[in-house]
Amino acid sequence: MDLQTMHDQLTERLLQKQLVSATISQPRLKSNEVKRIKLKPVEIKKDYFIQFEYQHEHVLKHENLPLEEAMAKLTSLFADFRQALFQFTEEKVQIQLSKKLKVSWKTEQTNSKKVELSHNRKKQYLLEDGIPYPFLVRLGVQNPDGKVKKQKYDKFRQINRFIEFIDDSLAYLPQDRTVRILDFGSGKSYLTFALYHYLRIEKGLDLRVTGLDLKKEVIEECQQIAQDLRYEQLEFLVGDINDYNDESAVDMVVTLHACDVATDMALSRAVKWDAKVILSVPCCQHELNSQIAAPELGIMLQHGLIKERFSALATDSIRAELLSLVGYETQLMEFIDMEHTPKNILIRAYKTGKKPSAGQYERYQQFTSLLSAKPFLENELKEYL
Ligand SMILES: C[S@@+](CC[C@H](N)C(=O)[O-])C[C@H]1O[C@@H](n2cnc3c(N)ncnc32)[C@H](O)[C@@H]1O
Repeated sequence: MDLQTMHDQLTERLLQKQLVSATISQPRLKSNEVKRIKLKPVEIKKDYFIQFEYQHEHVLKHENLPLEEAMAKLTSLFADFRQALFQFTEEKVQIQLSKKLKVSWKTEQTNSKKVELSHNRKKQYLLEDGIPYPFLVRLGVQNPDGKVKKQKYDKFRQINRFIEFIDDSLAYLPQDRTVRILDFGSGKSYLTFALYHYLRIEKGLDLRVTGLDLKKEVIEECQQIAQDLRYEQLEFLVGDINDYNDESAVDMVVTLHACDVATDMALSRAVKWDAKVILSVPCCQHELNSQIAAPELGIMLQHGLIKERFSALATDSIRAELLSLVGYETQLMEFIDMEHTPKNILIRAYKTGKKPSAGQYERYQQFTSLLSAKPFLENELKEYL
């Protein structure tokens, strides 16, 4: 097949709006900045467009083109790329272009696929199954072709949920300077990489991210992955949150399942550094469980299981209230929707400088004295209360 016939064949299908998705890959020159292009139809203000997603080595760029311009763009791309895979509604077309621009065109009938214009897709994850993201491939969540591994689907959903929170927080982050982000108790760091990918690569933010954890081997591995992915503004350090005082101003503090009072250490540092955004999913809160003594609640607290869960919920309520008392708009939100445990609560706090309401501090004190609680975080923040 020659180029003109290929062009005519594609045009016919595109004009009939049969495109479901496409990938153009294998640049002729290694030096080509764009490594791959993904196409999908989108509807914008009721008009049909084709979205081109250009995957550079470290950045994604998008443009939405009306049909005619999209076809012209495709023709120009075929000068620079050797391979394309089109999924149309009824068939899959694989195109290979030789050096001399001879076309190999292979078509295969497939089950009918529905064209889903992205505005009405059912669940629009910020990261999509089927698009390979280098960090997810490297961390073993996706196969190299972008398919999410079955046993990693929960992790994938968790990462997407977390990115939704990051996306919501964007408005609170400075746009005119390097954004400083710390992830305390970063562990294997799936979410740290996700955060970096989303803010740096997809949103193009200038930032510096540090993941801190006690575990040397885990940190070394994460550092290696960051290096392999060329995530130059992401570093991992071995250290204890409690000894980490090297910062003076931080924009966002993240803790995900940092054990027990490690969460509180991170929260108190965030407040001291005047962090604008705090995202914290606490874990295994034991502190209050050993303090709590309230005869009025005896019916509940006589059951070990209930006591443990109640203590965890009370701890998070106390954390949220303390953050609110020191100028944060604070909400407790569900983190991932598949589990309903206290471990599933995310504390989201934005620094707005809002003053506590009349009697808010007294109400807090009544609560802690009812429980005989002496929260670690209250002690850490006493100079601000
Ligand atoms: C349950 S893991 C969670 C890891 C990761 N954030 C995630 O969500 O997958 C908790 C991590 O917190 C770390 N950690 C606990 N206390 C810490 C402390 N005082 N300083 C630094 N890291 C701590 C642990 O080493 C562990 O890797």
